[in-house]
Amino acid sequence: MHKSWQIDTDELPTNLSGNEHFQNVVERAVNRRGFLKSGLGLSAAAFLAGPLAACGGGSSSSPVPDPGPDTPPSSLLGFRAIPTSTADAVSVAEGYTATVLAPWGTPLFSSGAGATWKGDGSDSAADQARQVGDNHDGIHYFPIGGSSSEGLLVMNHEYTTTRGVGLYTWLFGANDSGPMTLERAEKAMNAHGISVIHIRRNAAGQWDIVLDSPYNRRITAQTPMELTGPAAGDALLRTSADPSGTRVLGTINNCGNGWTPWGTYLTCEENFNNYFGTTTGSDQRNDAQKRYGLSGTTTGYGWEQVVERFDYVKEPNESNRFGWIVEIDPFAPNATPRKRTALGRFKHENAAYALTADKRIVVYSGDDQANDYVYKFVSDRTYIEGGDNSALLDSGRLYVAKFKDGAASGDFMGDGEWLLLDKTANPVLAADSRFASQAEVLINARLAADAVGATKMDRPEWVTVHPTTGEVYVTMTNNSGRSTTDDANPRPSNRYGQIVRWREAGGNPAATTFEWDIFVLAGNPIKYTDRADLKSGSANVTVDNTFNSPDGLGFDADGRLWIQTDGNYSNAGEYEGQGNNQMLCADPASKEIRRFFVGPKECEVTGLTFTPDRRTLFINIQHPGEGGDSHWPEGGNALPRSATIVITKNDGGVIGS
Ligand code: FEO
Ligand code: CA
Ligand code: CA
Repeated sequence: MHKSWQIDTDELPTNLSGNEHFQNVVERAVNRRGFLKSGLGLSAAAFLAGPLAACGGGSSSSPVPDPGPDTPPSSLLGFRAIPTSTADAVSVAEGYTATVLAPWGTPLFSSGAGATWKGDGSDSAADQARQVGDNHDGIHYFPIGGSSSEGLLVMNHEYTTTRGVGLYTWLFGANDSGPMTLERAEKAMNAHGISVIHIRRNAAGQWDIVLDSPYNRRITAQTPMELTGPAAGDALLRTSADPSGTRVLGTINNCGNGWTPWGTYLTCEENFNNYFGTTTGSDQRNDAQKRYGLSGTTTGYGWEQVVERFDYVKEPNESNRFGWIVEIDPFAPNATPRKRTALGRFKHENAAYALTADKRIVVYSGDDQANDYVYKFVSDRTYIEGGDNSALLDSGRLYVAKFKDGAASGDFMGDGEWLLLDKTANPVLAADSRFASQAEVLINARLAADAVGATKMDRPEWVTVHPTTGEVYVTMTNNSGRSTTDDANPRPSNRYGQIVRWREAGGNPAATTFEWDIFVLAGNPIKYTDRADLKSGSANVTVDNTFNSPDGLGFDADGRLWIQTDGNYSNAGEYEGQGNNQMLCADPASKEIRRFFVGPKECEVTGLTFTPDRRTLFINIQHPGEGGDSHWPEGGNALPRSATIVITKNDGGVIGS
């Protein structure tokens, strides 16, 4: 999610706790110039030289080369970098083809409501409920029978772009003028949520939607769901419509995603706060509602004007029923999605899993807000291949991360601790009367994390786990408001973002300590030519691959790290030469980064998933033309439409090879 008519509320901290940024732990001891020149300090090389860092083949102690557009491919990155672009079109590396699939409004059924996309915003709420939703985000391909030619493409529809209170940029056409009605709110609600789309390759090798497939499904902001786990039924989750505290209507602001080894999809509720306001005209939020950033009065979406449950004064607990990770079985079209309260309530970006040696599942998730935290869940039960894993995400331990400067400050690395968010076992929470129970710790996880002293980060976005080393990478997109720094968040007024990675102690995802370092400090060496200036980025940032605001992130099975951006696309000033939002690919061992793809105007590039043979890559283009200046993908005077992009290699090879 990027701009709307309002300020991007992710960028405004709601964390008013006194937790340290770790800026004052130790005096800076290591010269930053060394980091910038070599890309890695000596101790960072030692970090990579551990037993789990055997992937790739690059030497971690040598300077990062500048790949340049004409540099021959390295062993892991098999394509030539492409230049930036400001065109209202996508561009992809030479030898690859990018095609559009399933743009917003695409019918999933051949008859009945929504069977035809009208193209002018006049489709009804009932139509939208049976068409692909808006603002595509996290995405995952579930093969049917292991196939790389037929499967279920499941994706999130994060939001609808607004341009004023209750006014929408494109949902109702190009010149929406309101006023808010129930029909309008319901159309917007139906543009949210998830699409499950049966897709298949045709004889020509193109991917088609299988219209009328029994798997085709829209899950929206009105679909019945179940709250499960330790907080289900808690008094804070009960509403006038649901005295049980276990039945919720819908999911909203589904940002990044995850999946499980047992074949389910995880969708992450991020900026749910932006949907809750009040028509009373006065700010009546309590402390928790402020900490979670609910709107004091009006919202951009305007739903609170016509649907009482979105008015937090009229229905104070409804917002507590959002901000969760939701598990969906895409192969069971009638199954009720489950909101897994054991994983905690915050503005979840995505969910990335790892398995311990004894098969407990660990789920990592960032809370995307300036100065918020990184969390992990460790299940009590173990994964049983082919067995019933439906309760695996309902009991376990929730932790929040503390990134410490370690032996030295100023070297962009350190160690860390996972702090347990448990009302009984953590004496800090046991003594804190704000939490009556573990259910309240989970519902107000941000407040619990404040209390135990987690590290305030630069807007944690996607997390991904390396397929063989188990190292975990997380994007910090930016934090323009940061005034104090620490090793993991080393720049004040951080416009460009960074990627932080950690290695769990003993290679055990359930460990309570870890080592970490910064993989890349994004920056702009075109604007900041002095490479000693942290704004120029780390040494693996060059004039050829410069980017800002890393967001989407994911490894492929070979260990290539795919990086997607959702940042400033002005191509001017601090962002000179960075062009439209883009996707890059990195070699984790050499740290080399190359630009692979550039999106159209005013979009972000987000979400990625491969077929099992890795010969098709699906990514999403979100909010093209959010400011009004795009007609992608159709061109002419067409409404801009978020869409999936299918990328194949012209020689039929593995993507990125
Ligand atoms: Fe929905 Fe933090 O991006
Ligand atoms: Ca350090
Ligand atoms: Ca995102």
